[in-house]
Amino acid sequence: MCGIVGYIGPKQAPSILVEGLKKLEYRGYDSAGISVLNGSIQVKKAKGRLAVLEEKLMAEPLEGNLGIGHTRWATHGKPSDENAHPHTEQSGNFVVVHNGIIENYLTLKEELIQKGHQFVSETDTEVIAHLLSDLFDGDLISTVRKAVAKMSGAYALGIIYKNEPDKLVAVRLASPLIIGLGKGENFLASDIPAILEHTRDVIILNDGEMAILTQDSVQVTTLTGENLQREPLKVDWDIETAEKGGYDHFMLKEIYEQPKAFRNTMGSRIDSQSGKVVFPELQLTKDEIQQVDRLYIVACGTAYHAGLIGKNIIEQLLRIPVEVEVASEYRYKNPIINERTMVMVISQSGETADTLAALRESQRLGAKVFAITNVVGSSVAREADQVIYTWAGPEIAVASTKAYTSQLIALYLFAIYLAQELGTQDSALLQQLVEELVKLPEKAEQILANTEEIKQFAEGIKEKEHLFFIGRGLDYAVSLEGSLKLKEISYIHSEAYAAGELKHGTLALIEENIPVIALATQESLLDKTVSNITEVKARGAKVLGIAYEDNTEIGKSVDQVITIPRTHPLLSPALSVIPLQLLAYYTSLARGNDVDKPRNLAKSVTVE
Ligand code: F6R
Repeated sequence: MCGIVGYIGPKQAPSILVEGLKKLEYRGYDSAGISVLNGSIQVKKAKGRLAVLEEKLMAEPLEGNLGIGHTRWATHGKPSDENAHPHTEQSGNFVVVHNGIIENYLTLKEELIQKGHQFVSETDTEVIAHLLSDLFDGDLISTVRKAVAKMSGAYALGIIYKNEPDKLVAVRLASPLIIGLGKGENFLASDIPAILEHTRDVIILNDGEMAILTQDSVQVTTLTGENLQREPLKVDWDIETAEKGGYDHFMLKEIYEQPKAFRNTMGSRIDSQSGKVVFPELQLTKDEIQQVDRLYIVACGTAYHAGLIGKNIIEQLLRIPVEVEVASEYRYKNPIINERTMVMVISQSGETADTLAALRESQRLGAKVFAITNVVGSSVAREADQVIYTWAGPEIAVASTKAYTSQLIALYLFAIYLAQELGTQDSALLQQLVEELVKLPEKAEQILANTEEIKQFAEGIKEKEHLFFIGRGLDYAVSLEGSLKLKEISYIHSEAYAAGELKHGTLALIEENIPVIALATQESLLDKTVSNITEVKARGAKVLGIAYEDNTEIGKSVDQVITIPRTHPLLSPALSVIPLQLLAYYTSLARGNDVDKPRNLAKSVTVE
């Protein structure tokens, strides 16, 4: 996720900006840059690590007391020098850094091009600099307000205007931005660690707020200009806590980032006027979709589990057979591919060796490959024929959480989009799915606000050696992910079973007090799942049910229930997995494990 730093004061800005950006490295980035005002706007930026930028600055130092800096985590356009921030426009009057996404940037860009603006990058950010210059009315602040009124999306901005060298402007709409209050100097940053070295007095901007920083003052206003009185907070975190946003671990932070990740993945892909799903980034004609008679989804680990949900949804909505394959198997199995086969690979990192090999093998056999990935410019993104980004922001904890759920959102959108194009489902059902999708972030927030019971259950299982997850249909697919999460960070042996399959062998392992987690969100299968719960309870299992909050019956069959808000049954995996992620987290914590870096595992598996 991009990082922003800004400075206005008597000191030299470049070193403050670069040091601040170093403190934001944990957010992940692929390029970096700074800009200072020294009579004119000067910019230095470079693809790669901050060290590359530092080398450039050593060779050609910048000087100035007002500046903005940025680490970029690519969303629009590959990682490159040109796409790195800060961005200016042709007159060289405005310079901008930006975190987030400008959803209507293509429309704005086209309008600006028609007016004669020339663009040098592929980014949505450059549009902001041009827009400011286009709308300029003689006053920086009112111009920024006019520009912001034209932009839709979620973003945080830092802006400098050449002819008002006493001002640094900050705008926040759904991407984080904080102001650090110094003595005779002020700071701007995406996150607290960037400024902790200089001050502990901080104003956290709220959505829809703007701040005008001078050397001696900070004025916070609404986007339309009403002044706001904001009391600074005194931050007493150390740097490490600050990097994790105050959470104890990256995994917990990422679990809590899921509502935001959902919103980002949906982003501009739901047309607010028509309520339809759109995929402006895909080049796929109706004829091409109609040609497809079979789909392979190929991935590893958690991404494979997302694929299992994708299979179910696509088969339900499109009635096209979908095979989900573990990439390490698929690459050697001589898959049956012809011109009517579509292949989709899913990979958070975009660097998993087996997934990449599966992608290449599919292309070698003549298939067009679609990819769902989180990392712009990754190998998978570069090599796939078409890419759907999840825009979940960097995932740092080894155990994948927000990447998985945002993969689900991407798959839902893709399946609804194909069904819309092909007319395979009643438009009322598709409309209902879209309406329910949009409500998921709020429902996820509801689950995350209430974790006490999960913590207690985690305490109860921390000494156990074996555990089972059961479920039917989509609940079974989520069970597999819940079980993997628990195994990888708690080191407790666990297995996930299709609930109806248990009695064909595994039931022999159920004994007194063994914990069983039963997912029971799929209403059409509920009676059957309850029968399977009864079977394990009869053998002494202690059962935790995961069910909708209005299911008043399930409590009679299980020992404890964790509830989630009701949603459309096809969408329930995006919610029901959240308690399981939290359970894995709290169990790992209770056992004293290294939650973010579990033994024997790596975040990106680039070997076979
Ligand atoms: C588990 C986990 C792994 C990854 C797998 C694929 O929490 O993170 O199972 O899902 O290694 O990684 P990507 O998605 O980067 O291809």
